[in-house]
Amino acid sequence: VKRVTTHILQEMKARGEKISMLTAYDYTMGRIVDQAGMDVILVGDSASNVMAGHETTVPITLDQMIYHAASVIRAIKRALVVVDLPFGAYQGDSKEALRSAIRIMKEAEAHSVKLEGGREIIESVNRILSAGIPVMGHLGLTPQSIYKFGTYTVRAKEEAEAKRLIEDAKMLEEAGVFAIVLEKVPAALATEVAKELTIPVIGIGAGGGVDGQVLVMHDMLGITQEFSPRFLRRYHNLYQEMLGAFENYIADVKSSDFPNEKEQY
Ligand code: KIV
Ligand code: NA
Repeated sequence: VKRVTTHILQEMKARGEKISMLTAYDYTMGRIVDQAGMDVILVGDSASNVMAGHETTVPITLDQMIYHAASVIRAIKRALVVVDLPFGAYQGDSKEALRSAIRIMKEAEAHSVKLEGGREIIESVNRILSAGIPVMGHLGLTPQSIYKFGTYTVRAKEEAEAKRLIEDAKMLEEAGVFAIVLEKVPAALATEVAKELTIPVIGIGAGGGVDGQVLVMHDMLGITQEFSPRFLRRYHNLYQEMLGAFENYIADVKSSDFPNEKEQY
């Protein structure tokens, strides 16, 4: 199989082929997602929520991200793997940002990293890029800044914020990032950004006018229940199916139905 590269993603945008992207956090799931033909797999810091049960993405550590990333990477034959730099690993100092990115590349054997923010973190983006590490940007709703904003509502609805977002997107493109995630912004704004940029814009809650879509695996599978934003399409109700399987197993153990004669030595 031919590996997806950042260059191939650029070509996909140029010819109008939409880019599919999904999160994964472990080997077993990463393998299924890769075999399905996903273009990009994101080892998201949403692992903090869906894997570790934290309320936000703030607590997850670089070591924990490396563990998830290394597990996923072992399963991947085709997809481009992007790994989130977690909160605290890149904001303070661009040299620390580079050290964090290098650890992800070396210890997890990742293909690229993603950072949240625009002008505030441009020094870190530049330093990581100059070391030859591909960077994906992330603008709009940036969950690592949740305590600054206080809510997970739609971003850049007002003109000043929309203008700033467009400037940040252009600044990131000029710096050399290979793609940008746009999270939870008005569809019209996201469409405009995708038109203005030559690099792919991958949306989540950003409408259909962008170059690709990303979702969180556990949300689209219907494993998470509490989280139900408008942009989320559920492709399964895995929560119910798993609950049923666990209940049936319990019942079979209690009733001594399991194991039967054939299920023993
Ligand atoms: O961590 C994550 O899952 C993400 C996506 C929502 C883009 O950053
Ligand atoms: Na993330």
